[in-house]
Amino acid sequence: MSTNGEAALPNWEETFTAATAEQTHALAVRLAAVLAAGDLVVLSGELGAGKTTFTQGLGEGLGVREGIISPTFVLVRIHPNLPAGPRPGGPDLVHVDAYRLGSAAEIDDIDLENTMDSSVTVVEWGKERVEHLSESRLEIDLHRAIGLGTGLPSAGLDFDTEDADEPRTIVMRGYGPRWPEAPALGAAKEGVR
Ligand SMILES: Nc1ncnc2c1ncn2[C@@H]1O[C@H](COP(=O)(O)OP(=O)(O)O)[C@@H](O)[C@H]1O
Ligand SMILES: [Mg+2]
Repeated sequence: MSTNGEAALPNWEETFTAATAEQTHALAVRLAAVLAAGDLVVLSGELGAGKTTFTQGLGEGLGVREGIISPTFVLVRIHPNLPAGPRPGGPDLVHVDAYRLGSAAEIDDIDLENTMDSSVTVVEWGKERVEHLSESRLEIDLHRAIGLGTGLPSAGLDFDTEDADEPRTIVMRGYGPRWPEAPALGAAKEGVR
């Protein structure tokens, strides 16, 4: 299915476990340190999995203007890099929710090409919709880690409130020449794995 040269098979895959929303956020902060203008990040996972939480961590690490929310009605939000942040002069963050966009053609209508070169472009629900935008990408899948060995027989049967911390499994895959190997995410593996 590789039409514009975008890679169909990952170069590597890494799995993390984040026990809390804060750990998901922190992993994203560390990932942001290795991201550069032109990078494309595709986030997948069911509603409430933590895609926006992860994007907020990317925004903090990149030092962009705050206010990252689930872009439910607005499809694209640009968060400009802040001169007083950790990466002055660094990339902006372009945050896209592709949930309502049916196809790659509709993605093209929102003209992400214009901002890609100066931004990190993060697309929730982007799988099979945005791969043609770049020859390289990071795919990040977030899953509720229910049943993965909490040792509690009732795990997964509790009706937690929205915000209650529960573990997430986060799988990262690198595609294309930009990501020949998994980036070193510093303390991520101690703190999160
Ligand atoms: N380990 C975790 N990682 C991420 N979010 C978590 C975790 N545990 C609980 N949560 C909660 O789950 C919700 C995730 O929401 P959100 O990031 O908007 O998901 P999505 O964008 O995938 O729909 C937040 O309320 C967050 O506090
Ligand atoms: Mg979201």
